[in-house]
Amino acid sequence: MIKYVALLGFSLLLVSAIDHTVFKSCSETPFCTRLRNEVLDVKKQYFAQITQVTSEENVLTVPLENKNGEKLNLLVYLLGNKSRVKIQELENKRFELGDIVIIEDLKTIKFTQKVNDDELSIISKDDSKYKVVVTKGPPFTVNFYYQDKLQVILNGDRLLMENTEESQAFTFKVEFPESEKLYGLHDHAWTMSLGDTNDGSTTSMDPFRLRNSDSWGYEANSPMALYGSRPVIYGHSTSQTSGIFLHNAAEQWIDAASTDENPSAYFIVHSAAFDLFVLHGPSPKDIVRQFTGLTGKAHLPQIWALGYHQCRFSYKSQDDVKTVAALLDANNFPWDAIWLDGDHTDDYRWFHWNSTTYTDPVELQQNISATGRVCVSISDPHIKVEDTYDVYAGAKRKYFVKWANGSDYVADCWPGASSWIDYMDPEASDYYGKWYAYDKFNGSTPTLAGIWNDMNEPAVFDDTIEKSMPYELVHYGNATHGNIHNIYGFLQTRSTHKGLLDRDNKEKRPFILTRSHFAGSQRYAAMWTGDNTATWEHFANSYSQCMNANMMGMVFCGADIGGFIGDPSDELLQRWYQGAVWLTFFRGHSSRESKRREPYLFSEEVQEVLRKTLYVRYQHIPSFYTLFYEHTRNGDPIIRPLYYEYTSANDLDTQVLVGTDIMGVAVTEAHVKTVDVYIPGNETTYWYRVDDGSWDVYEGGKTEKTKVDINTSPYYYKAGSIIFRKDVPRKSAVAAIHDPMSVYVNLDQDNKAYARLYVDDYYSFNYENNKDYFYVQVEYDANLDYLRIARIDGEDTGMDVTISNIVVHKIKNEDKDKLRSQKKVYSKTSDGISLKNLDIAKELRASKSQEIIIKL
Ligand SMILES: *[C@@H]1O[C@H](CO)[C@@H](O)[C@H](O)[C@H]1NC(C)=O
Ligand SMILES: *[C@@H]1O[C@H](CO)[C@@H](O)[C@H](O)[C@H]1NC(C)=O
Ligand SMILES: *[C@@H]1O[C@H](CO)[C@@H](O)[C@H](O)[C@H]1NC(C)=O
Ligand SMILES: *[C@@H]1O[C@H](CO)[C@@H](O)[C@H](O)[C@H]1NC(C)=O
Ligand SMILES: *[C@@H]1O[C@H](CO)[C@@H](O)[C@H](O)[C@H]1NC(C)=O
Ligand SMILES: *[C@@H]1O[C@H](CO)[C@@H](O)[C@H](O)[C@H]1NC(C)=O
Repeated sequence: MIKYVALLGFSLLLVSAIDHTVFKSCSETPFCTRLRNEVLDVKKQYFAQITQVTSEENVLTVPLENKNGEKLNLLVYLLGNKSRVKIQELENKRFELGDIVIIEDLKTIKFTQKVNDDELSIISKDDSKYKVVVTKGPPFTVNFYYQDKLQVILNGDRLLMENTEESQAFTFKVEFPESEKLYGLHDHAWTMSLGDTNDGSTTSMDPFRLRNSDSWGYEANSPMALYGSRPVIYGHSTSQTSGIFLHNAAEQWIDAASTDENPSAYFIVHSAAFDLFVLHGPSPKDIVRQFTGLTGKAHLPQIWALGYHQCRFSYKSQDDVKTVAALLDANNFPWDAIWLDGDHTDDYRWFHWNSTTYTDPVELQQNISATGRVCVSISDPHIKVEDTYDVYAGAKRKYFVKWANGSDYVADCWPGASSWIDYMDPEASDYYGKWYAYDKFNGSTPTLAGIWNDMNEPAVFDDTIEKSMPYELVHYGNATHGNIHNIYGFLQTRSTHKGLLDRDNKEKRPFILTRSHFAGSQRYAAMWTGDNTATWEHFANSYSQCMNANMMGMVFCGADIGGFIGDPSDELLQRWYQGAVWLTFFRGHSSRESKRREPYLFSEEVQEVLRKTLYVRYQHIPSFYTLFYEHTRNGDPIIRPLYYEYTSANDLDTQVLVGTDIMGVAVTEAHVKTVDVYIPGNETTYWYRVDDGSWDVYEGGKTEKTKVDINTSPYYYKAGSIIFRKDVPRKSAVAAIHDPMSVYVNLDQDNKAYARLYVDDYYSFNYENNKDYFYVQVEYDANLDYLRIARIDGEDTGMDVTISNIVVHKIKNEDKDKLRSQKKVYSKTSDGISLKNLDIAKELRASKSQEIIIKL
């Protein structure tokens, strides 16, 4: 009955894909409809007893009270560039996430407090830039200052905390007085900027909903809940960026009011703790670092994970998989991984293979391994209820999520009646993770290099409960499911991650793709945007979604190329591949009902475009890899919205920066001959257009009507950058590991260019454990005709990093209407030494000064 939606979905799609009778609107959700337009009676508004504060261990407690005699405590923590407030009942029984999500060792800072009239000022003793002011009210307000700028206000006018048997919901409002735009609340199929949700009328759109859901066939441009949640908002203007993070994994609905005088967000939260972090920025870069400082960073992926992934729901048999692999190769499409979706299993018994269609999984993996590629297979958190199924038998009555009376929760999912692993329980989490060991996962070999955790919102085939678990279920530690709903998928990936680390003796970097995620999931997994649809709108949304993800720590992000549901036109498919080149995770995937769309199935012309597009991705893997490494060090996003680097460049949802130096443009409309491209920067910033081979130069701060044809979508290199590219067409990223790189020097007005380059063994943790890597600053000076390569740090016990030539582009000013460039290719040094296969890592190791100079 449930599979019904999945199977019949395609015909429904023609009308509307998502089933609105399953997923509720705010008006159908009691706590949301009750609280959305609640105006607090003055008797219910709290005032702050600012003369009765107490402090202990650098935490200040301010009693709150209203005229009904209700009392709460407001706790204030100064943490340097972050602040934190909690609001609690006097007897605090609310569920707290503890150290599940937040991994930073938070040090509260000493402060001085001062009461002045109706204000309590709390000023950091370390750094007086940071100040929190509580005003008495009613309603009380909490005001967060950075350098005397009021960045964030927690306005008590809409603070309500229900505390009855039936409801522990709470609401609050935060304002961003210094901001013009609000970004965040990942993940929605929406633009980056949140805009306004509530115009006060009955026809207002819904608030943004954060409730991890199996949103099969979700709508584009909608605030409906998707698979993952980050209760984060960044308030941004040209002059400053500040933010908040609600450390709470329960369902929530958020109204955004971006055009208010003080842009604001109103949160309606189902339950659990009121625990709010304020991030002081003040730049977009600072704020991302502050957030990734709190919730962690991704580790490096193995190099294959940055290549092209070929997937399908499903390759029906191991012969099908081998044939696809062989045909991709026969038709010269580069790829690195082929995926095994649900049909490879023994009727959805995870860790067991289908005995009629995948009869010899080891042989399959040998076949794939012989081509230098890997497989990724799927494993979901629901376990088929069947006493003869070993995974079930070992977990029954111990490791599953339970009803309050102690019986295992049983409901339908892919295999029929299922129970769900309770990953809150450390033993259950270990139990599940251990199934990945080679000796337990029979038929698995190291070629099964990655794991896909799907359906982990968790999805339950029951429309009456919005396709997930009832909130009253109980997890280990007596947490009701409602309190932890949005971290269930996070917890599954944590367990899988440990399982894979242990499986490979901690020698290899795990790769996990997850559908459900929460703040911090970057520590364990990559994400994709779930069951999207083959439409231009979904393609456009994938850019906003993955840029947002990157701004909130989740750097490894992609969308199903072509759209999971439905069939893209040839044009959409080509545009989608071209756009997806610049997102971090790069996978083609399609549903059972969609036509097969492996790249070799199209006309010669289309194949040629796709092949060229895949090569563009492979050429730029050195840039992605360097940026990934820098993320591991400082938490910076890998791909970036323009406003991250150019604070005034707002609302550009179809342009993406890869680091600082590459700009990709998604062409998100059919049959266009031109697209408007905003060239970021100002009159001293220039960009070279690379995709069409023209290397024409464009000045920053302007919107250019840009010619496009189907062969490429525009991308640019910034003047002043150096891009290390692997230009030799190869069958995979792994096959190109030892390939030499062409060095593209893109000179700025001063005839200079810079880059950083990172290389390591591409698979192990030696970079982390032994600092065994090659990491350099590279500088080209055309006035002196040299390329200087200087080590930043790292031991580099023996990398080979070879180059093949140096291609220098220079801005030519002759033509007034159009800036063009001049190209010069160097294949030897001024001393006549060939640059071909010059190993710069070896030269650098031999050099005493930690730098080398290549004179041209
Ligand atoms: C924030 O403060 C922490 C702790 O003092 C510090 O390590 C970090 O560098 C600061 N980050 C930013 C972006 O200001
Ligand atoms: C194997 O796959 C086939 C085809 O998809 C399916 O009919 C069958 O139920 C699966 N399970 C087993 C145990 O063969
Ligand atoms: C892998 O399978 C394909 C398709 O069956 C076959 O053509 C190829 O020879 C096999 N490769 C190896 C190394 O066995
Ligand atoms: C426990 O509660 C669930 C849900 O109400 C019910 O289905 C189940 O039968 C109960 N189990 C026992 C042993 O009472
Ligand atoms: C493991 O799988 C192989 C087939 O791949 C099968 O012959 C063998 O019986 C399985 N072993 C166990 C313990 O299930
Ligand atoms: C578990 O929580 C419920 C309510 O959420 C409470 O009634 C019960 O006493 C708690 N049990 C334990 C062992 O803490």
